[in-house]
Amino acid sequence: MSTRVLTGITTSGTPHLGNYAGAIRPAIAASQQPGIDAFYFMADYHALIKCDDPARVARSRLEIAATWLAGGLDPERVTFYRQSDVPEIPELCWLLTCVTAKGLMNRAHAYKAAVDQNNAKGVEPDDGINMGLFSYPILMAADILMFNAHKVPVGRDQIQHLEMARDIAQRFNHLYGREYFVLPEVVIEEQVATLPGLDGRKMSKSYNNTIPLFEGGSKALRAAVMRIVTDSREPGEPKDADASHLYTIYRAFATPEESAAFRTQLETGLGWGDAKQALYDRLEGVLAPMRERYQDLMANPGRIEDILQAGALKARKLAVPFMQELREAVGLRAPAPAAAKPSAKKAGKAARFVSFRDDDGAFRFRLLAADGQELLRSQGYANPKDAGASLQRLQAGDAAGMLQADGLTYAAIVDGAAVAHGPAAHNPEQRDALMAQAREALAALAGR
Ligand code: TRP
Repeated sequence: MSTRVLTGITTSGTPHLGNYAGAIRPAIAASQQPGIDAFYFMADYHALIKCDDPARVARSRLEIAATWLAGGLDPERVTFYRQSDVPEIPELCWLLTCVTAKGLMNRAHAYKAAVDQNNAKGVEPDDGINMGLFSYPILMAADILMFNAHKVPVGRDQIQHLEMARDIAQRFNHLYGREYFVLPEVVIEEQVATLPGLDGRKMSKSYNNTIPLFEGGSKALRAAVMRIVTDSREPGEPKDADASHLYTIYRAFATPEESAAFRTQLETGLGWGDAKQALYDRLEGVLAPMRERYQDLMANPGRIEDILQAGALKARKLAVPFMQELREAVGLRAPAPAAAKPSAKKAGKAARFVSFRDDDGAFRFRLLAADGQELLRSQGYANPKDAGASLQRLQAGDAAGMLQADGLTYAAIVDGAAVAHGPAAHNPEQRDALMAQAREALAALAGR
C-alpha cells in the first residue's frame, strides 16, 4: 500500500525563497518518491479567514499554483487541486464541527494568541476574531480526513492542528462505530532548510526580511541579496562561514562540494561584496529556468485553471463516494436497502450477478456493472448450490459494510471471510472508484 501524503498551502501571499526551500521543494521531492501518493492543495477557504481582499486571494492562488508547477510538481502524478473545487470538504467540515468540543477550539494556539493580544490591548477578548479563525482547525481536519491522509508534512506551528485532527477523527469514529477515518500523523522535516532572512531572523513575511523567489525577476533577487546583513569584516579578513546567513542560504542551493569551496573562500578572505555576487549567481542559476516556466504560466492562467480542474476531478473521485458513505453514517441518508428502492429499477436492470462454471470446473459468480465491467468475482465452489447460497448472502447483506479494500483490489466479506474479490486496480484511486461502483450495484440489487 502506498503512503498518502497531504498538505495545504494557504493562498494569501506570494511565495518567497524561504517558502521554496522550506516547504515547496521538499514537498515536490517527496512526491517523486516511490510508494508516495501525494495530495497537495491550495487552501483558499483558509485564505478567507485572514484576507478579505478578493484580488489578493485570486492573485495568490495563481502565484502559488504557478510556483509549484514551475518548481517541478507533476500534476499527473500528484493530486493537485484547489480546496474550494471540492465542495465535499466544507460539507465534511460541518459533520466534524458537530462532533468537535468547543473547548477543544478554545485551546487552539492561534485563537488564544489573538485573545491574548486583545487582552493586552484592553479590548473585548474576541474583538475582531471571526468564526473562521475560531474553527480553523476543523476545516483543516476536514482537508486531511476527507482523503484519509497518513502523513501531513507541515511547519512546527501546525503540530497542534494535527493533534486536533486526530482528536476529531477519533471522536467521529467512536461515535459512529467504525474506523471511517485514518488518524493522520504529523511530519516535521528536521533536515529541511529553514532559511534566514535578510536580517538573520527566520525568513518570513511578518518580519519583512524576505528574498523574493520569482517576483521582480533577477533584478529584485539581486537587490535583495545585496541587502543581506553581514558583519563589518573587510575584504582579505577571514570570515566565519557558520555565523553568516549568506552562507546558510548558499548552502541550501548548492551541492556539499560547492558549499565547501565557498566556505574556504570566505575563510580565506573573500569580500562580502564578492560573496553576495557569488550567492546571487548561484541562486540565479537555480531559479532562472524555473522563473521562465513561472512567467509562462502566469501569462496563461487558463492553463493553470485546466490543471486545477483536472486535479479537482481526481480528488472528487474519492471525495464524492466517501462523503456519501459519511452521510449514511450520520443518518442523513438511509443506508443501502431503503435508499436503493427508488433507483432499484434503473440500477437493478443495469447491474447483475452472473453464475457460471469456470474452466477449472469450479462454480463461481460474478457481479457485473451495467457496462459489463466486472466488479466482483467469487471464489470457486464445489457445487452450484454453495455458490448460489453465497451469492444470496452477498445480495442480502449490508453492501457498504461488506466491501473492504485489500491492497489494490477489494474483497466482499461474508461472516468474516472473503467470498469474492474485485478486479486488480492500477492504483488506489481506481480501486476506490471500482469499489464505490460495486457498493452501489450491491445496494441496488439488495433493494429489489
Ligand atoms: N494551516 C496550514 C498552514 O497555515 C495550511 C493548511 C490548510 C493545511 N489545510 C491543511 C496544511 C491541511 C496541511 C493539511 O500552513
